[in-house]
Amino acid sequence: MVFENIIVETRGRVGLITLNRPKALNALNGALMEEVGNALEAFQADKGVGAVVITGSEKAFAAGADIKEMAGLSYPDTYLDDFITRWDRVAQARKPIIAAVGGFALGGGCEVAMMCDFIIAADTAKFGQPEIKLGVIPGAGGTQRLTRAIGKAKAMDLCLTGRLMDATEAERAGLVARVVPAAELVDTAIKAAEEIASFSAPAVLLAKEAVNRAFETSLAEGLRFERRTFQALFGTPDQKEGMGAFVEKRKAEFKSR
Ligand code: CAA
Repeated sequence: MVFENIIVETRGRVGLITLNRPKALNALNGALMEEVGNALEAFQADKGVGAVVITGSEKAFAAGADIKEMAGLSYPDTYLDDFITRWDRVAQARKPIIAAVGGFALGGGCEVAMMCDFIIAADTAKFGQPEIKLGVIPGAGGTQRLTRAIGKAKAMDLCLTGRLMDATEAERAGLVARVVPAAELVDTAIKAAEEIASFSAPAVLLAKEAVNRAFETSLAEGLRFERRTFQALFGTPDQKEGMGAFVEKRKAEFKSR
């Protein structure tokens, strides 16, 4: 597979996607997002990959959807093409994805980071939904995922004023799982992904599915899903291995990866 806007590598059992349009601060044009979707699909099919990291550059994870690509579009163009639907491949990926965010994660950049399963941020990261300054609103989840992540007050503040939020504020607000020094960003994310990829794949995928259920359903239904899923995992050899290894005071060697 040939990629022009991203760099795709495998580090051990981790798939690494680096957004790579430096001159445009990784603005997310159609070609780049198509490549991200294709790379994720290839990682999904690769049994050697257990988790994925998406990162950008030191200056920008991504400065948003490509404004130059969108500027001339009409309402029928955007409605009929509905290009953001194609970005959903990130949110629909089954294997866990960590967003390793340094520098700007604005507009669509913040939204793609939120489509990932969690965000590890460099202390240089800046998050925001500045679409209001362009005469529009967020279109890839900025009013929805951000509100669920950080609550109404801060989401309104960011979406209505377009102001940016630094990494410390983003962690305090619950958007970001960890903040690390910029120089350690990618290594930290890869280490976390490696750890995830070392566990039993059915447990990992079902844990992701169960947490995501919390956003889609009532508490009672979510708890029922969690309980049945927990019970189902007792049908896997990896449950015997994981619990057996604990009892025998040794490291578990999961087979289903
Ligand atoms: N689209 C296209 N090009 C972009 C871009 C974007 N979102 N963001 C930056 N660029 C380009 C700039 O046009 C510039 O290109 P040229 O050198 O050819 O002029 C280059 O990247 C470097 O940018 P700046 O010179 O502006 O860099 P800076 O350090 O002065 O400022 C910044 C950085 C504050 C991030 C600024 O670039 C900026 O405000 N970018 C736009 C952010 C934004 O509004 N994002 C939301 C986009 S809309 C969206 O995402 C909709 C959605 O929900 C899906």
